[in-house]
Amino acid sequence: MTHTDRKGPGIARPKHPKKIHHPPSRPSTSTASTTPLTTPLPIEELVLRSISSALEKTLRNSALPTIIQNIKHLLYEKKFLEVFEDETVLEAYASRWVPSRALAFREIMGESEYVVRLLEGRKAGARSQGDVKGKGKGKEDEEEQGVQAASPRNRVVCLGGGAGSELLALVALVSAENEWTEFPKPVDQTGSKDDPDDSEDDDDDAKTDKVKRTAFPPCDVHMVDIGPYAPVVDKFTTSLRSTLISADFTESFHQTDILSPDSDVLADLLESASDLANPPLVTLFYTLSELFLQSRPATIIFLDKLSRLAPKGTLFLIVDSANEEASALGVGKSGRSYSLGDVLDGLLCALKPAPDGGEGPPKPRWKKLEGVDSRWFRLKAGLQEKYPVKLENSRYWSRLYRKE
Ligand SMILES: C[S@@+](CC[C@H](N)C(=O)[O-])C[C@H]1O[C@@H](n2cnc3c(N)ncnc32)[C@H](O)[C@@H]1O
Repeated sequence: MTHTDRKGPGIARPKHPKKIHHPPSRPSTSTASTTPLTTPLPIEELVLRSISSALEKTLRNSALPTIIQNIKHLLYEKKFLEVFEDETVLEAYASRWVPSRALAFREIMGESEYVVRLLEGRKAGARSQGDVKGKGKGKEDEEEQGVQAASPRNRVVCLGGGAGSELLALVALVSAENEWTEFPKPVDQTGSKDDPDDSEDDDDDAKTDKVKRTAFPPCDVHMVDIGPYAPVVDKFTTSLRSTLISADFTESFHQTDILSPDSDVLADLLESASDLANPPLVTLFYTLSELFLQSRPATIIFLDKLSRLAPKGTLFLIVDSANEEASALGVGKSGRSYSLGDVLDGLLCALKPAPDGGEGPPKPRWKKLEGVDSRWFRLKAGLQEKYPVKLENSRYWSRLYRKE
């Protein structure tokens, strides 16, 4: 379901959210033998299949390489809004950049124990019995993590998420096709594996973090973007429902300029989230550097607004390109540059006086839970053959904060 509210009226809630409650089982191919005739496709291939089917017409367009070249030129010139505000080029943009991003975001979110626990609606603390063969990072207790018991639904707000990468990543992450997942163990910034001294898992499982997912509660994904992405989102949604049939999700698209003081989408999405059993997850993927380019003061005001509106326990995950130009911000007359990650740490975790003149010492509004300054996401071998447009590895930085 998509709609536009650029001028900032209240958001129309999905009247008939499309859900799949009792998904039909996959068609049986039973024969005398109990061996299935077909092996389920890896989730990455299902994601690519979903994108190919949604963007079929665009992918068959012989002018696509030229359109992509033009988009690259505009991106290089930093004329971002010329790309993202032109409906005619959005599908071409999606066909080139969304597949690699969707696969990267699925892995990045799946690697974060905080994010997975939130999406599972499970109590934080230890993972459920028998679900981890690798090592868990989250050793804080449930109180400390601020994540509550099982929730009926999850709310994810994807800022700058109109292109659909986040939707695809989330649906792939929570779908039952993905019940057994292998995420590579995180590689640190120097490229070496985590915990080189830890030999207790010195077997295959030491190289991957094998996680048996429990069933995920339904996920309501709200995409918020300045671009007219509604038709693209509709295509992805239809395609996802036929490819990842066990995923239980709803989606909504809100076209708005998040930097505009008149935009009340964030308030609508987050204020109502305080009634939910499970705090929301807010994502800002590959968008922060663009926001700073549009207006630094407006971006700072926007982050402040988000900090006021986000209910306690909200997780805020930011991912962006780690290329030098995109990840640094020149500050002051000297032009000394700071990494965007450090700037965010400063803005979100600074001590603030108690709200409304309340008593008590100043406190930070967000707690930094995870931070990566540079890491590579690498596609699995063989995937390129499954998709007609170039797929690429990416180097990114990320931060995960929790609202206190
Ligand atoms: C580089 S794209 C990233 C898209 C998507 N998150 C991904 O990683 O595939 C940046 C997105 O931010 C959106 N955007 C840029 N400025 C915005 C603003 N002021 N308000 C809302 N969305 C904005 C653009 O339309 C675009 O979809």
